[in-house]
Amino acid sequence: MKRIITAAAIGLTCLAGAAGAQAPQSATADVIKGRQAAMMLSGVAMASIKGSIDAGQPPASQRFATRSLSRWAHAVPGMFPAGSGPEAGVQTNAKAEIWTDRAGFEARAADYAAAADRLAELAASEDAAAFGAQWTTVRATCQACHDAYKVS
Ligand code: HEC
Repeated sequence: MKRIITAAAIGLTCLAGAAGAQAPQSATADVIKGRQAAMMLSGVAMASIKGSIDAGQPPASQRFATRSLSRWAHAVPGMFPAGSGPEAGVQTNAKAEIWTDRAGFEARAADYAAAADRLAELAASEDAAAFGAQWTTVRATCQACHDAYKVS
C-alpha cells in the first residue's frame, strides 16, 4: 500500500513538473487562437455593418457593432506578444516582421484603431453617407496591415 502511495506521489510530482514546463507555451497558444478568433469575428462585424449600409439602415443601428470593433482594434498590439510568431510552434499567419518592425506594425494598428473610433463616432450620427465612406476607410486599414504583416 505504502509503495502504491509513493508511486502515486511521484507520478503527481512528475505531472505537476510537466504542466509547469508547458504553461508558457500553452498560454502563448491560447493568445494566438484568441487573436485569430477575434480577427474572424471582426470580419463578421464588418460584413454585418456593410449589410446594414447597403440596406439603407440608419448608422445608429450599428452602435454596438462599431463599438465592439473599436474596442478590439485598440487591443490588437497586445495580442501579438513576443514569442507568438512563427517560432511558437502553433499554426499562425503572423509574419516575423511584426516583431522585427514593431514600430511599423503598431502604426498600422493605430491607423486601424483611429479609423474604427471614427466609425463608432459616426454611428451616433445621422450621416449615412459619411458612415458608409468611413466603413471603406476602416476596410483599407485592415488591408494595409495584412499586406505587410500577415501571410496571405
Ligand atoms: C495591425 C495589423 C492588423 C490589422 C489592422 C488587422 N489585421 Fe487581421 N490579421 C492580422 C494578422 C497578423 C493576422 C494573422 C494572425 C495569426 O494567424 O496569428 C490576421 C488575421 C486575420 C484573419 C484570419 C484569421 C484566421 O486565423 O483565419 C481575418 C479574417 C482578419 N485578420 C480580419 C481582419 C479585419 C476584418 C480587419 C479590419 C477590420 C483586420 N483583420 C485588421 C493583422 C491585422
